[in-house]
Amino acid sequence: MSAVVLYCRAGFEGECAAEIQERAAELGIHGYCKAPGNSGLVSFHCKHEEADHIARKTPVYKLIFARQLFVRVAECNELPIQDRVGAMLEALAELDTDVLPKCGDIWVETADTNEGRALSALCRSITATLRKSMREHEHLTEKDTDRRPVMHVMFRSTHSAMLGYSYTYNHSPYPMGIARVRSPKNAPSRSAAKLAEAFKVMIPAADFDKRVSSGMNAVDLGACPGGWTAVLVQHGMMVQAVDNGAMDESLMQTGQVKHFREDGFAFRPKKRNIEWLVCDMVDKPVKVSHLMADWFVEEYCQQAIFNLKLPMKKRYPAVQQYLQAIHDRLAEAEMRHYELHAKHLYHDREEITLYLRRT
Ligand SMILES: C[S@@+](CC[C@H](N)C(=O)[O-])C[C@H]1O[C@@H](n2cnc3c(N)ncnc32)[C@H](O)[C@@H]1O
Repeated sequence: MSAVVLYCRAGFEGECAAEIQERAAELGIHGYCKAPGNSGLVSFHCKHEEADHIARKTPVYKLIFARQLFVRVAECNELPIQDRVGAMLEALAELDTDVLPKCGDIWVETADTNEGRALSALCRSITATLRKSMREHEHLTEKDTDRRPVMHVMFRSTHSAMLGYSYTYNHSPYPMGIARVRSPKNAPSRSAAKLAEAFKVMIPAADFDKRVSSGMNAVDLGACPGGWTAVLVQHGMMVQAVDNGAMDESLMQTGQVKHFREDGFAFRPKKRNIEWLVCDMVDKPVKVSHLMADWFVEEYCQQAIFNLKLPMKKRYPAVQQYLQAIHDRLAEAEMRHYELHAKHLYHDREEITLYLRRT
């Protein structure tokens, strides 16, 4: 039996499993999940053709809790330490010919867990040999190309690995599904990395310069001390930062920031010239969802990125409820032209990040 393998944050395997089961069912595929607690991994078991269909048809960028998705074609559980690569090649040689497409690149990965991180030196040291051997056995093209699928080799321990592939037109373009981002220099809080990641992961690269550009006006609700504002400033935006707290002095000196000591739920800008609304206020998720929708209904902004806190339990249904609250509010106002995505980003812990955009 084949499987679709998904990476997620450790501790969120239940949510990731619920989501892939729902998406697969929409395609008429009914498999079962293995989602060991705190493994950062979920596998959805089904026939190979079905796993391949999911990998083509379930948009990975729309999955909330999964960072990456690939079709597993082989699992090697007794890799000999002296010749792991040879054992993997043997496992691939036993497959039917059409099960593993010829790939254009190879990513050697682990789960995002402490155990996984302990394997990163092994991943680095084996990559060149794996690449060379996979080329010699024609599992990989002579030169790297993104026109062919990516081969995933996912080490679970020093002696076990899963092998599979993902389609480059429908996967996270980042190994392990984790986009590496740099916060602006001197950003006053670590939260800056979260908005930087949201920009990188949630906005298609081809449209980035259109959607995020210098000279745009932005509002940051719950801005202090200014990590998110620093990201907006770095992109050349003029920012209205709303928070009763203290803003970082060096940010204020850029001349791009105006600080409003006001309640973020009551604040509205004087002019309707705001492109970006960002909001990191920690409050009831449905309340924040309604606030975000209201800004769109009242035509105050074009795009928004915001965080919603997750409950301790029943997180997947809670997320559905938050999304529905936004859809309902927009539907009531007969606003039909928008896109809404949610993602549990690498920098998110007990929260998710949403991107709402007028289309
Ligand atoms: C998680 S912090 C924001 C961190 C910020 N995004 C950064 O990158 O530095 C949440 C902030 O929301 C502010 N906040 C909470 N409720 C608020 C409200 N009703 N109006 C304005 N600010 C609020 C808090 O004062 C706090 O500074």
